[in-house]
Amino acid sequence: MGRARGLVARAQRIVVFTGAGMSAESGIPTFRDALTGLWERYDPEQLATEAGFRSDPPLVWSWYASRRQAIAGAAPNAGHRAIAALEPRKPGLLVVTQNVDGLHQRAGSGDVVELHGSILRVRCLAGCGVVERGWQDDPRSPPPCPSCGAPLRPDVVWFGELLPEEALRRAQRAAMRCDLMLVVGTSALVYPAAELPFLAARGGAQVLVVNPEPTEVDGIASASLHGPAGRLLPELLGG
Ligand code: APR
Repeated sequence: MGRARGLVARAQRIVVFTGAGMSAESGIPTFRDALTGLWERYDPEQLATEAGFRSDPPLVWSWYASRRQAIAGAAPNAGHRAIAALEPRKPGLLVVTQNVDGLHQRAGSGDVVELHGSILRVRCLAGCGVVERGWQDDPRSPPPCPSCGAPLRPDVVWFGELLPEEALRRAQRAAMRCDLMLVVGTSALVYPAAELPFLAARGGAQVLVVNPEPTEVDGIASASLHGPAGRLLPELLGG
């Protein structure tokens, strides 16, 4: 822990890159953890693709409604709070997250790039441009787009879809410029997001991993802390 704390203390330009493990201790399941992971229990083809949504909108919509409810009932954990508390001491700190739960923002992080969108927004399936935060929520079926009448869909990135361009570009630029990338709670298996730690390392940054399990990123890491984010981040980032 001492060496890792030294890396944080010396860093000037920090990017914190997070995945589902960041929210695990808030009671939000990850995707690939054995037994508990969402993709261990549900079919991603059916629930996280546009084709899946088109073939059964009520099924997919009600699944997202149940996830939104779980997220509304959850709270940021000590790990989210430790990252937010670091911001005033490390001006320019950027959080780049694959999570769609909004827990970093609820913990007080001021600058968050959402690479995979947000479950707290919907957008028009037909792409007429409507994006909404508040909508008449019926968990049984998706509401119609107020502009063109097509179904509204969760504003998240589904498998086979491109990431929001501006978000990805901003994340890549920050990765190339940072001097420390803290990689928390991601299996680093889903691209292009998983490329970011390698981009940072190629740019000369130190990479620091927090994850109970080994991942692909350990190979390029200056230090890896194997344990839960909610316990380790307050110790690592505390003043
Ligand atoms: N603290 C830190 N890490 C944890 C914790 C914890 N308490 N609990 C689990 N983890 C780790 C796991 O060991 C695993 O490496 O979090 C990681 C979660 O990996 P995934 O479930 O694969 O989630 P993620 O990497 O965010 O998935 C990427 O895949 O399904 C798509 O769009 C979805 O954004 C998601 C993307």
